[in-house]
Amino acid sequence: MPPKRVLADANISGKEWATFRGFCLAFVGLFALFTVTWLWLYSPWDYGALVGLTFWGLLPCYVSNAGMVLTGRVKGLPRYPIDGGRVWRDGKRLLGEGKTWNGLVGGLLLGFFVAVVTYPFTAWVSDVARASFSDVNADGRPTMLKLFDLDLVLQFVSAGNDFHAFAGRAFLLALGAPLGDALGSFVKRRFSKKDGGQFLFLDQLDFVLFSALLTWPLMPLPWYAILFVCLFTPLLTVLANLIAYYSGKKPYPW
Ligand code: CTP
Ligand code: MG
Repeated sequence: MPPKRVLADANISGKEWATFRGFCLAFVGLFALFTVTWLWLYSPWDYGALVGLTFWGLLPCYVSNAGMVLTGRVKGLPRYPIDGGRVWRDGKRLLGEGKTWNGLVGGLLLGFFVAVVTYPFTAWVSDVARASFSDVNADGRPTMLKLFDLDLVLQFVSAGNDFHAFAGRAFLLALGAPLGDALGSFVKRRFSKKDGGQFLFLDQLDFVLFSALLTWPLMPLPWYAILFVCLFTPLLTVLANLIAYYSGKKPYPW
């Protein structure tokens, strides 16, 4: 039996719930497999550093993504759809009712704000990560980690401990989330998906991949970092979205 409806506009079929459950289980399984393999080859320290750096580095983007949901529906505040109700050539909405200026601006500001506030801790995070990784490399174990260019990744995370570069990167990451999310909606409407309709992978990754693309000219991420982001982000967003869904902030849990 599908779980109860939380928001009035949510109308989720049993099939959609089943697909979503399968998707979540697949990602939990993949992530568990990755974790076990990593821990078998390396150590919990560099595993912690890997997850920590990914989360910390993309914090402006993740906060912005959650911020859109939080600021998109505020009781008593009118919602301003980005597409202004306009339709595309196919007669369908350009983006839909779910994409509002409220969410875009709210997400951008929250993501940027949180990044700036956490800047003072970034040097410490980098130091801890560096110590954790070098520890492993010194061990002389068979190392896939030679592939891992820690300097490149740390350059992304801490922007060379230069506040202006860090703030610029944070702004682009926080802006990339609503832009990528809106682009995802544009694609969904072209595929005739209703507002909030299920489009797995795109729903979970559009915002983070677009953020990475926006920052690319300044601070490119290596391909293996992107791959890890694609494994890690759906888990994080599904968790956040389930919380948002069950607390009535989001009409759909994906
Ligand atoms: N939201 C918003 N403005 C944005 C992005 C998101 O107000 N620019 C809010 C909306 O309340 C939206 C919720 O966040 O319903 C969840 O966003 P998301 O799941 O990405 O959008 P959907 O409404 O599900 O629509 P779509 O099918 O276009 O993804
Ligand atoms: Mg979306």
